[in-house]
Amino acid sequence: MCGIFGCILKEGNAAPLIHSSLKRLEYRGYDSVGIATISDGKIFMKKDSGKIDEVHKLVNLDDMPGNIGIGHTRWATHGAPLKINSHPHMDCKGEIVVVHNGIIENFMELRAELQNLGHIFVSKTDTEVMPHLIEETLKQNPKLTFVNAVLESLKRIEGSYAFAIMSTREPDKIICARNESPLVLGVNGTGVFCASDIPAFLPITNKAVMINNGEIVILSQQGYEIHKIQDYSTVTRDPVTIEWTSEMAVKQGYPHFMIKEIHEQPEVLRNTLRMQDHYLDLMTTFLDRADEVYLVACGTSYHACLAASYMFSKLAFLPTYPVYASEFVEQHGKSVNIESTLLAVSQSGETADTLSAVMCAQQRAATVLGLTNVIGSTLTRVSRVYIGTQAGPEIGVAATKTFTSQLSVLAQLALRLSKKRGKISQDEMDCLEVNLKKMPEDVEIIIRTQEEKVKQIAHKYKDSKVFFFLGRGISTATAFEGRLKLMEIAYIPSIAFPAGESKHGPISLIEEGFPVVFVCPRDDCHKTLIGNIMEMKARGAHIIAVIEEGDDDIKSLAEEYIEVPKGIPSVLSPIPFSVPLQMLAYYISLEKGNNPDMPRNLAKSVTVK
Ligand code: M6R
Repeated sequence: MCGIFGCILKEGNAAPLIHSSLKRLEYRGYDSVGIATISDGKIFMKKDSGKIDEVHKLVNLDDMPGNIGIGHTRWATHGAPLKINSHPHMDCKGEIVVVHNGIIENFMELRAELQNLGHIFVSKTDTEVMPHLIEETLKQNPKLTFVNAVLESLKRIEGSYAFAIMSTREPDKIICARNESPLVLGVNGTGVFCASDIPAFLPITNKAVMINNGEIVILSQQGYEIHKIQDYSTVTRDPVTIEWTSEMAVKQGYPHFMIKEIHEQPEVLRNTLRMQDHYLDLMTTFLDRADEVYLVACGTSYHACLAASYMFSKLAFLPTYPVYASEFVEQHGKSVNIESTLLAVSQSGETADTLSAVMCAQQRAATVLGLTNVIGSTLTRVSRVYIGTQAGPEIGVAATKTFTSQLSVLAQLALRLSKKRGKISQDEMDCLEVNLKKMPEDVEIIIRTQEEKVKQIAHKYKDSKVFFFLGRGISTATAFEGRLKLMEIAYIPSIAFPAGESKHGPISLIEEGFPVVFVCPRDDCHKTLIGNIMEMKARGAHIIAVIEEGDDDIKSLAEEYIEVPKGIPSVLSPIPFSVPLQMLAYYISLEKGNNPDMPRNLAKSVTVK
């Protein structure tokens, strides 16, 4: 997730406006910033790693000539957050500049092809293939207009993108295109604007034109033209008036970042499936060499590790030990050694407890692998191999989209390892791959069809003094995560444990009306779980069940049920089954008048032990 912005002004310099607009997109990423303008047929460019204010102090982003320009604020995915990887990116001749938000899936093939043709790449990014591809297209077809060269190049790009592109060949135009990454235009009497998101231009204009997937846009002094990439047919679309305040616009009209981020999960899950094979393969090779692996993390990331321990065991027969990072040194500090492998999972990559477990393991020569959402974080610097979870910045303190993105990457790793080791049948493998691919759609369905129901349940149970969250097998991890969400933002004491443990103690707490949330995928644990539900029900508990669509056995026992699509394999179930629990916590928190984005006593990144 990055922010792009471009503008053509009728009068005045574009750079100061691009700078201030990028500031309003900084919530989308702040690893580096860059601006390119065109003046007198020449491209001017300033860029560097760091937050916008830091870079501005060094290079004065406002001091650039030209009334046309593009800019970018980066959330690193491919290539570390360094100056060379900052956007805009250029072709060999310095005639074409590109800013991009998204992931070009086939960039390795394109890059190799272009390098063989003599193109020189200076960055490690996927984006840099685009200016070179346009350059090559023009070289091979010198009669093409710049727009047509962009169009032809777009047809070779696989993956997600919102591009803004300029060239000295047609220095009065910005060409934009969209596939799966957001792009919106702004218009008023002073000029035309393109951006990843409305807040970028909202103080300038509230007239916006939404751009759809598969569309290319030509911006000029005359305004905007929209065409379909496929056949260049013209699309007519008038601006709409945006009534949002700036604050609402940053949250895209959602009242809180948390619910916005819950709704972003389908898109984020799609991005996690665009992970480059070689990162996953490299990590898989290290996991394959290990006899056993410590999965180390805190809070929500720990719950992803707990779920992953079932995935690795069931799919790849790899023994893994989920360990709370804050306990790692005490528990394993003396036994971890050169033969050990530690996979540290951390959204921020800066959690002090996780890093001290990593340091301890490193001092004893263990292999450290990292999974984090923040490329360039300490975890990426200290890991032998790391993978980025591609969720984009998460602003709500409660982790939501980063949890499901961690689960998706961990599931992909477990599947690769399984394939490498030949541990499961081809049919099972195919079924898991198909289900992983349709996960974004499943999550979309859950949010679309169940949110209202979750709101009603939240209203009904808002005054409950305590909740249980129970599951069996891998759903234990989902239950733990549901409990953490409710406690941290609704401030309701909650207890989670594997459902089989009830009868060993906790069931004594149950009395009439006690809410018990059961996580119930239709897996091998289903029958036994029904027994656990009956035990609770017999003592007066109110059952709130997250079930597979059409699970009549549990429906008949539950006071409330929330449905997820049918047929999701057990090892993948924490992804969809956790989504209703995130929404439940969110809506109970609202019912209680809390601010779910800023729960008391908590911080997004916990850098103290
Ligand atoms: O950045 P990390 O993933 O290392 O953070 C770990 C925990 O502090 C974090 O998951 C925390 O539990 C969440 N904010 C809970 O929603």
